[in-house]
Amino acid sequence: MFNKIIRPRRLRISENMRALVRETTLSVKDFVYPIFVVPGSNVREEIQSMPNCYHLSVENAVELAKKISALGIPAVEIFGLPEYKDEIGSSAWDMTSPVQRAISAIKKAVPELLIVGDVCLCQYTSHGHCGKLCGSYVDNDETLKLLQKVALSQAQAGADIVAPSDMMDGRVAAIRAALDENNFANVVIMSYAVKYSSGFYGPFRDAADSAPQFGDRKQYQMDFANSREALREVELDLAEGADIIMVKPALAYLDIVSRVREKINQPVAVYNVSGEYAMVKAAAQNGWIDERRIVLESLTAMKRAGADIIITYHALDAANWIN
Ligand code: PBG
Repeated sequence: MFNKIIRPRRLRISENMRALVRETTLSVKDFVYPIFVVPGSNVREEIQSMPNCYHLSVENAVELAKKISALGIPAVEIFGLPEYKDEIGSSAWDMTSPVQRAISAIKKAVPELLIVGDVCLCQYTSHGHCGKLCGSYVDNDETLKLLQKVALSQAQAGADIVAPSDMMDGRVAAIRAALDENNFANVVIMSYAVKYSSGFYGPFRDAADSAPQFGDRKQYQMDFANSREALREVELDLAEGADIIMVKPALAYLDIVSRVREKINQPVAVYNVSGEYAMVKAAAQNGWIDERRIVLESLTAMKRAGADIIITYHALDAANWIN
């Protein structure tokens, strides 16, 4: 009877045997590291709810970008706090805003490092919503015109990739048209196609001062109870010309990543968001978990689910651990 036992354990017998049959491996080339730029000079302030992440003035962001590139990480995503906010978020396309200045300065200092611009308005509007208001409704079509300006300004500054995160309908087509008309046919669109209305964005909204001043984002971000709707959003964004599809947040949504992966042939990105990062950091600081194990396990799970690209605040640590 014993010779009938089938023994999967044979392939787990040693580290080299496991390595030989491993299905998923993490690489520093998978990562995009988000950075937060602020006005002023000489600023380097730790973000309270995101340990080891900093508000940086432009010259300090450049220094960090050099380190990121030296670690082999291929890309950074730039978020910013503007000098001023107004009803329509016009500092989002102001070429003298920290984001645009940081994009140019990083491109100049480290040309090979890919730069992703987050195309949204919530950090720049006085009301904290991701578009132009009409009463308490975010006006979709009016917002598209503003998003075109944001994407163009980032492309002009030197962004390689623009990543619309606003969740307006039709924004990918609008941005593609604006880029193409202005000689930016090679600027990539990484669409936050599947972005859920999520409690996991909490620390980011503190860091970016972007919490809505009234209501929430449920009019435009997706209901976390839905998965078929995610496939519909992906289909629409691909039809509009998205080059890369993102699912966000990551860990609670790996079923969605996996469904999207099965459905499409384009690259899939996940955003391992601020709340996911903060929970790991808090537990690690309390000595309740082994940070390195938890992070590498989680990032590998994102890849196993089907992500090609992982946007994560853990990228620096993970790169050091992998290298
Ligand atoms: C802007 C934007 C948000 C995040 C990325 N781009 C916040 C939001 O939608 O409220 C969240 C990133 C994170 O939590 O790490 N719209």
